[in-house]
Amino acid sequence: MGVSEMAQSLDVDRLEREVKAVYGSVAQAPDGEFHFEMGRPLAERLGYSPDDLDRIPADAIDSFAGVGYHFDLADLREGDHVLDLGSGSGTDVFVAALHVGETGSVTGLDMTAEQLEKSRRLRDEAGFENVTFEEGYIEDLPFEDGSFDVVISNGVINLSAQKDRVFEEIARVLGPDGRLALSDIVSESRMPDSIKSNADLWAACIGGAEQVDDYESLIETPGFDVTERRENHHYEFTSDQAVNACQSYGVKSVSLVARKR
Ligand SMILES: C[S@@+](CC[C@H](N)C(=O)[O-])C[C@H]1O[C@@H](n2cnc3c(N)ncnc32)[C@H](O)[C@@H]1O
Repeated sequence: MGVSEMAQSLDVDRLEREVKAVYGSVAQAPDGEFHFEMGRPLAERLGYSPDDLDRIPADAIDSFAGVGYHFDLADLREGDHVLDLGSGSGTDVFVAALHVGETGSVTGLDMTAEQLEKSRRLRDEAGFENVTFEEGYIEDLPFEDGSFDVVISNGVINLSAQKDRVFEEIARVLGPDGRLALSDIVSESRMPDSIKSNADLWAACIGGAEQVDDYESLIETPGFDVTERRENHHYEFTSDQAVNACQSYGVKSVSLVARKR
C-alpha cells in the first residue's frame, strides 16, 4: 500500500488534532508525562555539543523532542540557508543558526501554535536575527522552488500520513546540490494496519514509523541519493506501550543524509 493510500485508513483530521495537542503540551508543559523523553540530558546523549547547547535558549532545550543528532551529516557552512521541518520549540533552528553565521539564515516551520509562539518568543528574547519561524505543513511548504541549501528535520516526518508528498516538497524547495539531513523513527518490519490506523499510536511517533527500506525509497523517488545512515542507539521510548511496539516491530531512530542527484 502506498503512503497516501494508507493514509485513507487513518483519520487524518483526528491525527492532526492529536499531534497538535501532544506538541502543544510539549511546548507549554515539558515536565508532563509523554511517551518519549525530552530535554537537555536527551540532547547531550544523542550527540549535541554542550558548547552549542550553552549558547541557545535553555527553555527551547527543555521542550526538545528530537530523536537523533544529524548536524555532523548536515555539515552546515557559513552562509547556508537552512529549513528545519517541524521546528518545535526551536532547538535545532538555534543550533543551526550558530553554524551558518550572520550571512546565512535558518527558517523553522511548524503547524502547532504553542510551539510557534514559544520559539518566536525565545528568538526575540535571545536576539537571533537570522532566524524566522513560519506556520505551515511539511506536506505543502510555503516557500518558492530552490529557496534553501539544506533541509533538516528531527523526529517529525514519521508523524506525516503523506511522506511521499513531504519528500517531493523537500526536493522542490532545495536548490541544486541541496542536501537533506534528518533523524526520524522507522521500523524494521512493516506494521499491521491496526497499528498504522491508530491515531494515538501515530501521535506517539510509533504508528507512522515506515519500514526502513520503504522510507529510503520514499526519499530517493523525488531525486535524492541517501549517502550515509546510522542508528541512534541512545534514543529510547519511555511508555510501556511504546516500548512494546519497539520490541515487536523493531521501531528505532535513524539519522541519515541524502543529496540531490
Ligand atoms: C517530535 S516534535 C520535534 C520537534 C523538534 N524538531 C525538536 O527536535 O524538538 C514534532 C514537531 O513536528 C510538528 N509537526 C508534526 N507534523 C507536522 C506537519 N504535518 N506539518 C508541520 N509540523 C508538523 C509538531 O507540531 C511538533 O512540533
